[in-house]
Amino acid sequence: MAETPSPTPGKIEAAFDWLDERLGITTIWNTVFARMVPETNWLYTLGSASTILAVLQLVTGMLLTIYYVPSPDQAYDSIQFIMNDVAFGWLIRGIHHWGATLMVLVVFLHMLRTFFVGAYKYPRELTWLTGVALLAIVMVLGFSGYLLPWNQRAYWATSVGTSIMGAVPVVGPLLLRIARGGTEIGTLTLARFYGLHVWWMPLALLSIIGVHLYLVIKIGITSPPERDE
Ligand code: HEM
Repeated sequence: MAETPSPTPGKIEAAFDWLDERLGITTIWNTVFARMVPETNWLYTLGSASTILAVLQLVTGMLLTIYYVPSPDQAYDSIQFIMNDVAFGWLIRGIHHWGATLMVLVVFLHMLRTFFVGAYKYPRELTWLTGVALLAIVMVLGFSGYLLPWNQRAYWATSVGTSIMGAVPVVGPLLLRIARGGTEIGTLTLARFYGLHVWWMPLALLSIIGVHLYLVIKIGITSPPERDE
């Protein structure tokens, strides 16, 4: 007996074509994912690894905000609650904690790779400069996040870090007051670091990653240098 063809694939294709005509999905797919790239090696995956880590940090960070309370009275206890009482809280915090360290490492290695193949030269100067901004943002994210658990280590690390800012000639004392929200580390410091960590820096990170990836797609990437035989 002949099989009756299922009507579903046709309908799905028609629905896809309808959307594709309006949204240009095939063009976007071909430009972003099916574009021509030179033959590369594993070191060229570090940029994508940085992108994946950025997404992982954003998602786990958003989950942590469900229970974390950015006030000196409750920050420490809210972290203890996440670790001991919230279902999989220890896992989410663990991923966010180790993901941060891994991200600094991977972004740095990606920078070294691009440096050693001379990818900062014409025409990729802006890809490099947006990369420098990304490295700075990742550092500020790490530094601001370190204070949030509000334990002894967080307090003293921030105390030392902000004192170093204070040692900058001429503008140092002003920088220190801006960072701490006064002369001492307290409620305002935690509020400012939390704001930086969950709003200013993630927004900057996402926007600049967008520009960085646009440039990577528009200009293309370098090919690994070859040995002259
Ligand atoms: C959050 C941080 C970063 C993300 C998500 C990111 C992402 C990427 C991706 C996906 C690529 C293409 C694939 C690859 O070459 O690995 C790339 C290329 C590039 N990145 Fe980054 N990047 C980051 C940080 C940096 C930093 C810190 C620098 C340098 C200071 C940098 C400079 C470059 C350059 C010059 C290229 C072009 C490479 C080439 O043409 O061979 N990036 N980036």
